Amino acid sequence: MRQLVIMTIISNCTASALKDAAASLIAGNLVAFPTETVYGLGADASNQQAVARIYEVKGRPTYHPLIVHISSINNLDKWAKDIPEYAVKLARAFWPGPMTLILPRTDLAKDFITGGQNNVGIRVPSHTVALGLLKEFEAQGGIGVAAPSANRFGKVSPTCADDVKAELSDYFSSNDLILDGGQSIVGVESTIIDCTNATPMILRPGAITAAMINNLLGIQIEIFSKNSSDKMRAPGLLESHYSPKAKVYLSGTPEPGDGFIALSKFPTPDGAIRLVSPATNEEYAKTLYQGLRLADSKNLSKVIVVQPSGDDISVAICDRLQKAAE
Ligand code: TXA
Ligand code: MG
Repeated sequence: MRQLVIMTIISNCTASALKDAAASLIAGNLVAFPTETVYGLGADASNQQAVARIYEVKGRPTYHPLIVHISSINNLDKWAKDIPEYAVKLARAFWPGPMTLILPRTDLAKDFITGGQNNVGIRVPSHTVALGLLKEFEAQGGIGVAAPSANRFGKVSPTCADDVKAELSDYFSSNDLILDGGQSIVGVESTIIDCTNATPMILRPGAITAAMINNLLGIQIEIFSKNSSDKMRAPGLLESHYSPKAKVYLSGTPEPGDGFIALSKFPTPDGAIRLVSPATNEEYAKTLYQGLRLADSKNLSKVIVVQPSGDDISVAICDRLQKAAE
């Protein structure tokens, strides 16, 4: 039987709390921390044992690569080499922010980070607690923090500290920590861009949209689709993900007692249980995962969703909903 672990949630992330959390990472413990997208489950990316615990706590297969989080573009060439010019432009324009670049790795990015691939995912998050933690971690001699979303494998990403606790506290040790930085403002995971070829490709849509990238680079960026023959590009992006226990349906009319998620302009059908009612697509992204979690806490078996439309963050919302519905 598992021992009961009393989880430490640090809700007042002062400079001294971040110093302690960084020291805990250096000592090989896990620290879950807020980012503007979703909460991450962090470990020292240079410490194989610490990284192994991420996989254990998440219940994630070990061939799935992890994103390394750094405090600034200045540290990028520690982890990545042969960085194309377009990737530097992307990093300058959108970091710190909700974007991950996949780049050829240096020797620092070991197989236990990259899943044995020759490239590595790097992100500079913008949340002040995340950046503060990373800066302090680097000041104490760390080089990067590996962090997947802080949920069990295949489940819905957490967007607040209590959701991290609900997902992972059974698997944490007493030295692990959760930093509470409030509700994540974006609400869906970062845009992942493959920068290992002559032209970039979006592997996972997010708040940095294709239109934003096209405007910056003056190109038409490709978006990875399931039909692409090059499966190497997107490990971990293909299977069912982001799934609540309730079955998610992207069409149909809810019956009484079913959950319902849609923009506020869509009235709640008779007898359906409104889970969230966002006014805008941005608010839809921010509240989507809360809505899916609420379905589970209410023990609903079905959730009917009306997908948003447009070429903004709704592309990311529809991507996650389609995976949740698989
Ligand atoms: O917003 C985010 O990106 C959050 C926060 C915590 O930063 N992180 C996140 O990590 O979503 P994760 O591990 O839950 O999802 C990252 C995805 C995985 O599907 C992984 O397989 C893929 O990115 N990935 C990571 N490194 C990769 C690489 N080198 N090549 C291809 N895919 C990679
Ligand atoms: Mg994830």
